[in-house]
Amino acid sequence: MAVQRRFTKILGLAAVGAISISLAACSSGGGESDSGGGSDELTTVGFVAVGPEGAWREANETNVQDTFTEDAGFDLKYAPATNLDQKSQIDAFTSFVDEGVDVILLSATEASGWEDSLKRAQEAEIPVILLDRGIEPDDTSLYVTRIAPDNVEVAKEVGAWAVEQFPDGGNYITLEGPAGVGVVNERNEGWNESVEGSKLVQVAAQTANWSAEEGKSVTETLLKANNNDVQMIFAQNDEMGLGAAQAVEEAGLKPGVDVKIATIDGTKAAMQALADGQLSYVHEYNPLFGETALDVVNKALEGDSVESYIIVPSEAFDSAEAAQAVLADRKY
Ligand code: AHR
Repeated sequence: MAVQRRFTKILGLAAVGAISISLAACSSGGGESDSGGGSDELTTVGFVAVGPEGAWREANETNVQDTFTEDAGFDLKYAPATNLDQKSQIDAFTSFVDEGVDVILLSATEASGWEDSLKRAQEAEIPVILLDRGIEPDDTSLYVTRIAPDNVEVAKEVGAWAVEQFPDGGNYITLEGPAGVGVVNERNEGWNESVEGSKLVQVAAQTANWSAEEGKSVTETLLKANNNDVQMIFAQNDEMGLGAAQAVEEAGLKPGVDVKIATIDGTKAAMQALADGQLSYVHEYNPLFGETALDVVNKALEGDSVESYIIVPSEAFDSAEAAQAVLADRKY
């Protein structure tokens, strides 16, 4: 049972976007803030999660659940979306607010439509921390912080690699995640920033909904529509890129030679495909930030300042050798 608390949000004046939350415990006889692990009371954390979506999501959500354990002082209530449906997430979010959890972690299936929920949490003085996915419009006053690798920067690096690979230009396809997901817009933004002014030509952009099966079927269709005159594919996640590689091969083209495929995530399967030459470039989008989230939760409950965006470092891998070097110890 969470200790009843009163949170007063004080906007940090020094650092723009830094938000500090001061905690005035008003439980009967309590008076002690009991951040995770600090007392025999467990800190209740409502995790409004995405649920089954692919290898990256599995790694991320498992890491969060493995971090916020009872031994660490937390009672983590995991609420995955029903079939990626935002309404099921909003319902879970509302239940957590009504239940009076101490903190809410949110990985949003959709970027927009969160204002009312976030304002309700604010009125209930329950801090919200965004994991991975951002919200649109982005109002940093509605949440403590967002913890994620920098999608714009990651995609800029993918685009810069592609421009370098094709100095004389080439036709490319973009396989996007689902429409309405914040990271899709951020990845398009970063990629476009890098390829603007280059000789690369986008012949098609279509969602394949993060899936290998759709990545394959969409690529099959687009290769046919372009008479196989495609030299590069930017897949916004690993699964879609792995599906595209199958379609490239079935079209009689050689991945890595006729068509270079670049992906984002850095899951084991993609790193193996990079080592095998099926993929040409994989940019990690590191999902293992559970410890960072725990640190932020404790800071927020202790009233410490927290930056409004905590960027998780992520590496790029541009060769089979680079992939081989990390495969054995890959954690996801
Ligand atoms: O929000 C992160 C994205 O969601 C990952 O790149 C993708 O694999 C996941 O489904």
